[in-house]
Amino acid sequence: MISVIVDGFFGDVGKGKITAYLALRDSPSLCVRTGAPNAGHTVVFRGAQYVLRTLPSCFVNPSSLLAVAPGALIKTDVFLAEAKAHGADRARVDYNAGVIEERHVEMERSDEHLMKTVGSTGQGVGAAMVERVLRRLRLAKDVEELRPYLADVPGLIQERKRDGVIIEGTQGTFLSLYHGTYPYVTSRDTTASGILSEAGVGPKDVDEVILVFKSFVTRVGNGPLPGELPQDEVARLGWVERGAVTGRPRRAAPFNLELAKRAVMLNSPTQIAITKLDAVFKEAAGKTRFEDLPADAKKWIDDIEAALGRPVTLIGTGPEPEQTIDLRRAKLGP
Ligand code: IMP
Ligand code: MG
Repeated sequence: MISVIVDGFFGDVGKGKITAYLALRDSPSLCVRTGAPNAGHTVVFRGAQYVLRTLPSCFVNPSSLLAVAPGALIKTDVFLAEAKAHGADRARVDYNAGVIEERHVEMERSDEHLMKTVGSTGQGVGAAMVERVLRRLRLAKDVEELRPYLADVPGLIQERKRDGVIIEGTQGTFLSLYHGTYPYVTSRDTTASGILSEAGVGPKDVDEVILVFKSFVTRVGNGPLPGELPQDEVARLGWVERGAVTGRPRRAAPFNLELAKRAVMLNSPTQIAITKLDAVFKEAAGKTRFEDLPADAKKWIDDIEAALGRPVTLIGTGPEPEQTIDLRRAKLGP
């Protein structure tokens, strides 16, 4: 079975937490991360907080192989550090993953349009993508230190799909180069189709598309955020967050059903995950059974499900992977 995890808003919806939960619960044989190190995926596991920029959030399950997709970009030092921290023997990078170099970072940081107008994270990702398109970028197979980790990731996906494969997207639907709020977007297509293309899997091979929304919407960097709240209101609601890579404060707005509907249209999800329910309904914190949620929270979830026409199967009620309500059996059957 192949599942793809995609973000329905502007990034930072908690894909890392949902991926970590699925890794522990379903014990996939292989996890593949797409995207690049401008995206930090936060996982809180047994009280410790990890921010992963290259390897998939499945690292919490020691039996999962951790691979980086051919369409992804890496920074060699970040890859090697994460491999060392989370299991060098099980870290893989596709031969064709692109390699970001220091000069790409410098190119972005001296680009006013990117840094001031767009609000780029300045990690060199866009500059490296430009060189990839011009066919000048070095790939993982050209880097001596990456030799021990090189693999054919699309081949691994096919070999292991019977034992479970999770493909983890990065950023969010509305940061997509094609479907987002251009020019305030990232340098890749972040929708389900783009994630699959980066990983090297055809759409008919995928069993589950899990679209993740947070209970409120956040955005870092510039560009439109409908319903944006003033920072004092964000603080009053307890919705203050900071960028995992840049440390910048995230702008915030209430859950937006119109954006969510468009994300459903763009990603064709088979399931919906909603994270941080406890940020909106305090008494939802830590609950692991739907019945134990407060009545207003249950109604809120049911209304979203009805409006989106897809089953809400996973609900996050706290940062730890175990703080999740899993309705997959109830709603999808065994
Ligand atoms: P860049 O992709 O780093 O050039 O950034 C372009 C835009 O995408 C900026 O608004 C960034 O804040 C945003 N962005 C890039 N990566 C992420 C992410 O992982 N989470 C949230 N926003 C991101
Ligand atoms: Mg993030």
